[in-house]
Amino acid sequence: MKVMVIGGGGREHAIVKAIKKNPKVETIYALPGNGGIAADAVCVPIGAKDIEKIAAFAKEQAIDFAVVAPDDPLAMGAVDRLHALGIPCFGPDAKAAEIESSKVFAKNLMRKYGIPTAAYAVFEDAETALAYLRGARYPSVIKADGLALGKGVIIAQNYSEAEEAIDSIMRARKFGESGSRVVVEEYLTGPEVSVLAFTDGKTLVPMVSSMDHKRALDGDRGPNTGGMGTVASNPYYTKEIAAECMETIFLPTIRAMAAEGRPFRGCLYFGLMLTPEGPKVIEYNCRFGDPETQVVLPLLKSDLLTVMQAVEEGRLAETEVEFSDGAACCVVVASGGYPGKYESGKAISFADAPALREATAYHAGTKLDENGALVTAGGRVLGLTATAATLAEAVEKAYRAAEAVSFEGAYYRKDIGARALAAHAG
Ligand code: AMP
Ligand code: GLY
Repeated sequence: MKVMVIGGGGREHAIVKAIKKNPKVETIYALPGNGGIAADAVCVPIGAKDIEKIAAFAKEQAIDFAVVAPDDPLAMGAVDRLHALGIPCFGPDAKAAEIESSKVFAKNLMRKYGIPTAAYAVFEDAETALAYLRGARYPSVIKADGLALGKGVIIAQNYSEAEEAIDSIMRARKFGESGSRVVVEEYLTGPEVSVLAFTDGKTLVPMVSSMDHKRALDGDRGPNTGGMGTVASNPYYTKEIAAECMETIFLPTIRAMAAEGRPFRGCLYFGLMLTPEGPKVIEYNCRFGDPETQVVLPLLKSDLLTVMQAVEEGRLAETEVEFSDGAACCVVVASGGYPGKYESGKAISFADAPALREATAYHAGTKLDENGALVTAGGRVLGLTATAATLAEAVEKAYRAAEAVSFEGAYYRKDIGARALAAHAG
């Protein structure tokens, strides 16, 4: 089989490595891939958003199965385009992807179908939003409607911060067209849990839960990032809570999407907050999370491609999806300055340490330069993932591997998994 994976980050590297295990796979093409994916797949220099070129390549190469991993091409209809060519795909069509690409759509869906989420109001102009925010309770959460690289969420502590947020989103259009509408939300509290789930639109199978670490610095301080590390499973997500989420959130969501004529097929990501009133949805993503995938897929015992094909063919109910009981930890090594400005093109070296052989280095922002040397090419550069019987061991192993990586300006958080370990102890 010829498989094509769209995207070029750590998530895609984890997907490529998992697909590669299937003996039926002859070639994996990654569009565009990166410096590390190049060791596991054939990288093709076509951008993830270049839908026409992706479609032409898929047709020319007679691709048997495509996986569209990032949010942008999903929202732009990459799956619709590939399906029109008769190419089987893993990922939602554009109508279903709106569950992530429009926060207004997602919030209205949850309201209509009684799915627990923060109370909210939607505004289409700055003046009305500000009039509402003058009388709002603080903190208040302000979100740009569309995709904004995870940066379109502002937690305002008072009216003046809210005014600044509305100015930058709606007036200065810092996130472009994403800012033509905003959602103003009630501020929720509680531990956050990420749950990725396979769904074919009828059946939903949750994967092992995980915990992201979104802030740049230790102790959950500093600016928001795409994610500085993850652990799986998430100790706050007990069996009881999982059963409750299935009944009140997961199944109602896929039924709601089907009822709206937008059946969701692919990986549906539930960003949950376990509030004192029960689990609530913070956000939906229409795709695998990054870096959640880098801890979830290494714990998947079943064959990923087989599960993906079952999702595409609507046969998930009869397909086995099994996870190991172990734990996983991913520590992201980032470029100095990320998520702000950072330099690229720094030579990456790996010490000849046994620790590196006990972990997997998922490449995110790397490339091979003209001499074939591995250099940095992004904010998040590498994710070092280790699995073990216990979370404490997985964390220890992932850190030993992270210490063996070096490039100028490299930094990583020192406390990935600390909160999860404390929750285990407590
Ligand atoms: P999102 O991009 O929707 O995942 O939001 C980014 C982060 O903002 C989340 O991971 C939460 O930590 C925080 N957040 C979003 N919505 C709320 C809310 N209603 N209450 C409290 N925190 C929130
Ligand atoms: N790690 C969060 C996300 O993938 O959106």
